Amino acid sequence: MTRADEAAPAAWRGRPTREWAQYLGVPQLELHPRLPSTNARLRVLAQAGVASFTTVVAGEQTAGRGREGRTWHSPPDTGLWMSVLLEAASNSGAGVLPLAVGVSVARALEEMSGARIGLKWPNDLLLGPAKLAGILCEAYGEADRRVIVGIGVNVRRPAGGYPAELAGLAGFLEEVSEEGLEMPRLAGAILGELRSWAHPAPEFLSGALQAEWETRDCLRGRPVRLDSGIRGTVQGVSSEGYLTVLSADGSVALARAGSVQVESWGFPRSAAVRGTGGTNQPGP
Ligand code: BTN
Repeated sequence: MTRADEAAPAAWRGRPTREWAQYLGVPQLELHPRLPSTNARLRVLAQAGVASFTTVVAGEQTAGRGREGRTWHSPPDTGLWMSVLLEAASNSGAGVLPLAVGVSVARALEEMSGARIGLKWPNDLLLGPAKLAGILCEAYGEADRRVIVGIGVNVRRPAGGYPAELAGLAGFLEEVSEEGLEMPRLAGAILGELRSWAHPAPEFLSGALQAEWETRDCLRGRPVRLDSGIRGTVQGVSSEGYLTVLSADGSVALARAGSVQVESWGFPRSAAVRGTGGTNQPGP
């Protein structure tokens, strides 16, 4: 084993990093056993002007970040904690890129597991209502198209369990996969799908991308509450990527950002999830 091997996360030992970069088809790859956050590390690399698809992977994150300022629990060697540098379609925000990343990751998880993955706007990846993976897209800066795309996939249940406040709602990809999951193959599948669906970034949710989204959309027709307090039934997602919600009074609300609380899934949580316990920033 080389020194480079020892410095990689457990799942990535056995080959030097440059070989893994070739395997993944990325211009630059960093593999870290432990980082505060792969998104934070990629931001530093972006500052130095690295190319699109530069990728950072960590075996563990000590300060993993989730959407809306939440933390992302990233215990050692239990998930794929990865960030990829992509570009938005314009420099006025990420646009529909977060949705395209959601479709890409859903397709890759399906390919790897054979399970049917749901998408909860804007880009939570669900197995039934259990959260398998989350995506955090952070614009690099104003007037800059670059976007740091952080992807966290819960692969296996941590032996030490999850913090009590997170217990009960996570899904773990390995528990629904017919074969053992290798992190490099999972990363390769995700990067391959990102090349097809998120690069170059689409301007609108339309055509084949819209169809891919709609077939996995698990909010459509469900009663929800938006951060603004508005309640209603989800109609779908507009071509600009906004969630459209029809209220009981007939008015239509558009959610551009934030979280959605599902008031009723219409089926018991346990029915859709193999195994119990543990979560990673669950969607309600
Ligand atoms: C969410 O809240 O659903 C988004 C979670 C995103 C987690 C990933 S793990 C890799 C990358 N680095 C981070 O600090 N966060 C993202």
